[in-house]
Amino acid sequence: MSMNMPQKMQEEVEKRRTFAIISHPDAGKTTLTEKLLLFGGAIRLAGTVKGRKASKHATSDWMEIEKQRGISVTSSVMQFDYDGHRVNILDTPGHQDFSEDTYRTLTAADSAVMLIDSAKGVELQTKKLFQVCRKRGIPIFTFINKMDREGQNPFELLEELEQVLGIRSYPMNWPIGSGKQFRGVYDRQQTQVELFQGDDHKMIEVRKVSGYEDPLVKEIAGEFFYDQLIQDLELLDVAGDPFDYEKVQSGELTPVFFGSAINNFGVQTFLENFLELAPIPTPRRSTQGDIDPLSEQFSGYVFKIQANMNPAHRDRIAFLRICSGKFERGMSVKHVRPGKDIKLAQPQQFLAQDRDIVEEAYPGDIIGLFDPGIFRIGDTLCQGGNYEFDELPTFSPELFSKVTVKNALKHKQFQKGIDQLTEEGTIQVFRTIGFDDMILGVVGQLQFEVLEYRMKAEYGVEVQLQRMNFQFARWIVDKDVDPAKFRINSQLVKDKKNNFVVLFESEYAMRSAMDKNPTAQFLENAP
Ligand code: G4P
Repeated sequence: MSMNMPQKMQEEVEKRRTFAIISHPDAGKTTLTEKLLLFGGAIRLAGTVKGRKASKHATSDWMEIEKQRGISVTSSVMQFDYDGHRVNILDTPGHQDFSEDTYRTLTAADSAVMLIDSAKGVELQTKKLFQVCRKRGIPIFTFINKMDREGQNPFELLEELEQVLGIRSYPMNWPIGSGKQFRGVYDRQQTQVELFQGDDHKMIEVRKVSGYEDPLVKEIAGEFFYDQLIQDLELLDVAGDPFDYEKVQSGELTPVFFGSAINNFGVQTFLENFLELAPIPTPRRSTQGDIDPLSEQFSGYVFKIQANMNPAHRDRIAFLRICSGKFERGMSVKHVRPGKDIKLAQPQQFLAQDRDIVEEAYPGDIIGLFDPGIFRIGDTLCQGGNYEFDELPTFSPELFSKVTVKNALKHKQFQKGIDQLTEEGTIQVFRTIGFDDMILGVVGQLQFEVLEYRMKAEYGVEVQLQRMNFQFARWIVDKDVDPAKFRINSQLVKDKKNNFVVLFESEYAMRSAMDKNPTAQFLENAP
């Protein structure tokens, strides 16, 4: 007899781990992803993940802009099996030009892996992505990469996590030597020594020990590294945070692993520990309370819409995170916002950049739905219910451009395009008071480029963008806003819903405006 449904559901949910890797460009995200996929046997050649190195793009039909820039404009999803687990990695663009999509993708993850270059420490993009994860309170695992190079002192790196990000850490392992002298790690959890072997460091020797006082440690680590290692480990035991499972789950304590992705060193132990500690798909908040992933009724929400995967067909793919129940191809679900029933006929799954039709999927999985223009970011699909998942957060724009249409006769198409792209969540639109000029706000430069491209390709409109000096937008909650108060290094504008917003050129300008208007509230997002 086959397994009964609830038991099967439980097994499927419990084996899933859905996470995103957050890092600054060049920290080694592509390399780490390749290695993880290799362990799972998901791909034959590690190199295939690196689609951005030209050749792959020649055959793909992704946006022209992707080909030109050689980057992945929007993130995709990779899936592999390892040791009884089903792992979903949500890819977030590693390029500086990340966009709001990157942030939204993080909401579909149940945990995050923070990848840090040992020489560079915590960098800007990591910091931004970390803050989004922090707000959600998801567990964050840290992999300190490039230990085969001269990096910062490990204690300094931990200090930086605390100072810059405000998160406490627990080193799961500790490096023995570093740079050219990097010998391996001492695993504090498993009390074992893992050593690089051979010229190319490809062989790894693992020796179980009773603790770091074990004479065997000295023997294998070598006289030269031993004293330092013992000193460090003692200091960690005395002054470091104790391991606390609850704090890991609430994202207050990050387990830290040292390794070198390119040498495949520390990746496997990292993966195994991660799978052990990372959460299974968790209940998600909705307008009718928490939705249990084990519920038999299917539900999910759209966190990203990717346009123009095939420009010839102008099709879009809506990425759906499954939150509960089992997904089956062809099933009928309620599209809650418009209140319509729809049939999910052509669901797709993503392995690196290849698309496959998916027959069934479970909570934690991401599926791509063919979108003839009916979905919006944040939409809920569900069976047997009439609730919506908590709206996705919007992010405060940091880059601003005045936008005008080059050919005034095209004004109608221009407006249509802007409306559509705003609705998709691609850009935020503001109007100046009086002159009614249009200002666009985004979180990444790439969003402007995508806008220019799509306005031309899809609406036949050439736009002119003129960058403005503003860096911050704050929504003002104040009955009688006086525009005169916001003229120095700032400007008062209105958003689409006629809320007042002030754009500031600097943090200083923002602070002083707040000081001068103590009764007003300044919000990062629309109220
Ligand atoms: P990203 O996706 O985060 O941007 O980083 P990516 O994996 O592309 O890695 C950035 C560079 O860092 C690459 O070198 C990569 O080989 C190197 N790298 C990754 N992990 C390690 C490591 O553990 N140790 C050392 N020493 N280097 C590492 P590149 O020369 O820029 O690119 P490539 O030509 O090697 O692909």
